[in-house]
Amino acid sequence: MNTTGINFIDELDLGEERTVLIRVDFNVPIKNGEVTDDTRILAALPTIEHAIETGAKVIVCSHLGRPGGKQSDELSMEPVGARLAKLIDTDTLLYDYEVVLPQNLIGEDVDTLLEELNPNRQIMLLENLRFHPGEKAGDDEFAEQLAALADFYVNDAFGATHRKHASVYTINKFFDRHHRGAGFLIRDEIEGLNPLLDHPTRPYVAIVGGAKVSDKLGVLKTLSKKVDTLLVGGAMAYTFLASQGVQVGDSIVEEDFLDEAGQILARAELKDLDILLPVDHRTGSDIDAAEATVTDDVDIPDGQMGLDIGPKTVDRFRQVVSSAKTVFWNGPLGVFENDAFAEGTIEVARTLADSDAYSVVGGGDSAAAVARAGVADQIGHVSTGGGASLQLVEGKPLPGIESLRPNYPFD
Ligand code: 3PG
Repeated sequence: MNTTGINFIDELDLGEERTVLIRVDFNVPIKNGEVTDDTRILAALPTIEHAIETGAKVIVCSHLGRPGGKQSDELSMEPVGARLAKLIDTDTLLYDYEVVLPQNLIGEDVDTLLEELNPNRQIMLLENLRFHPGEKAGDDEFAEQLAALADFYVNDAFGATHRKHASVYTINKFFDRHHRGAGFLIRDEIEGLNPLLDHPTRPYVAIVGGAKVSDKLGVLKTLSKKVDTLLVGGAMAYTFLASQGVQVGDSIVEEDFLDEAGQILARAELKDLDILLPVDHRTGSDIDAAEATVTDDVDIPDGQMGLDIGPKTVDRFRQVVSSAKTVFWNGPLGVFENDAFAEGTIEVARTLADSDAYSVVGGGDSAAAVARAGVADQIGHVSTGGGASLQLVEGKPLPGIESLRPNYPFD
């Protein structure tokens, strides 16, 4: 993707007496009121800290989960604000930064707190944008209300750029090209993902896992046209295997997608594309099983679910990954949260880390898997965006980035 015409935050005329609204993707996991993985907050910090250092008043906003346009205590940004306050660390820092969180998403209390905000020691975090029905609807009125808060708008929410929502897309209507731009995370994501887009060095291998074929049909079809070898694991592999008449026991199968899965395999055969499915498995009676049973071959007996790829499959996948020059990975290959079914995902992650290939890992689960394998820093690029990185790799535009370009034709 080229970035012609897109301003980055360091090209905008931010400074004292200015206010900047930064859209980030702080859609992070929260348990018992605490953020359990702050990767996405850390990833947006360089942009937030840069904005603070210019002396501008900084307002940060994000969605969290899917509250359906209604206020919900569980999906408040409060725990996120608390973590953000601990992480901000700027050159100008004389005090601990305070993150001010108005109770309402927009309205009088936001305006008053903003008026009083001291940019030398405070930033503002808005409440969950999806508490307002206008966010998901891409509503003009809501976007305009958000835009009215600031002189500049910066999008650094890479993980949400595939959404045509008010705060990532529509809002760009209300800032001219000199007052809108992208943050450093978006720049890093574009740089990290670009090598996959036009002429990836071959052999180009994609590893696709995760629960559902239905979620990834588009990307499976597109990748089948672009890659030399496609490795399929995770629960979705059982729908593919079932489409070939393999016995999959009690594994999860999407009956409605058997035909589609079969067609993807048939088309691949015609085009000489290798789609490698598991040839053996680690199984259990359910996803919480304490121990895995390794199958002798591809069939899974009744009463057992396939929950991870087996050792023969790991060997095949490792061979392919070792000789690749470019690898894209999205979706874990088993239920890696349970130690009994983590081995396939972790072994493949380690092989990827040791290989010479340019590697990109996209999506929260896959990023967590490489982190769990202790190899995240040996991967070419770990994307913070699941759906967004898939959409880019599929070759489809990201509305949240495209609408930052000058003269963008808004619909
Ligand atoms: C993500 O987690 O992929 C992004 O935050 C987008 O979230 P969404 O799928 O709920 O739009």
